[in-house]
Amino acid sequence: MQEIIAKTRTFRRFIQKERISLTTLEELIDLARLGGSARNGQPWQYMMINTPELCAKVFPFLGWAGYLTDWKGPVEGERPSAYILCLLNKQRLKGSESEAQFDLGVATQNLLLGAMEKRIGGCRIGAFNPQLASLFDMPDHLQLSLIVALGKPRETVILEECKNDEDIRYWRDEHGVHHVPKRTLESCLVSLALR
Ligand SMILES: Cc1cc2nc3c(=O)[nH]c(=O)nc-3n(C[C@H](O)[C@H](O)[C@H](O)COP(=O)(O)O)c2cc1C
Repeated sequence: MQEIIAKTRTFRRFIQKERISLTTLEELIDLARLGGSARNGQPWQYMMINTPELCAKVFPFLGWAGYLTDWKGPVEGERPSAYILCLLNKQRLKGSESEAQFDLGVATQNLLLGAMEKRIGGCRIGAFNPQLASLFDMPDHLQLSLIVALGKPRETVILEECKNDEDIRYWRDEHGVHHVPKRTLESCLVSLALR
């Protein structure tokens, strides 16, 4: 479990020509739907996109790697070969929208872990242009909240320890290797004295 969790990094450069089948995408969504859900409301629905034509339409709406200010996102040939649009079905909301966002975190982590097991990498995209929704005939009860970009990874991603508390920015070295600083276990532990 430690190994697969550590390997399940965010990937942003892919071998674009390696297509991902709808069957594979369905298998991943099948993992997403089994995640824990506040009040067991399970308000999320997913749209699969895997054709080059539709992928090309989605791509311009996506925001990539805010900390890599001199990188505009993956170039043609390195773009995702599939997307999963995460749609909040407001008719299925039992609690608050923020509860639903927790559910989506759980669901997409299941999805990405399952993807990595199949050697597929992914990136959650929260920074998308909301006009993306207008590509589709979107009913009022569905709200586009997150996109998961998927593809065969074409980059190396390395975990490292944060050297200090502020040092959380991911970065790319001169070989194009992507480094992701994670806070140390020690710095994630809190011990509070009893009153
Ligand atoms: C809710 C959420 C939204 C994210 N949105 C974006 C995004 O819009 N663009 C992007 O390039 N990465 C996005 N990411 C990926 C994060 O930047 C990434 O998780 C972080 O750099 C840590 O890397 P890791 O996933 O390999 O641990 C998002 C991640 C999460 C969990």
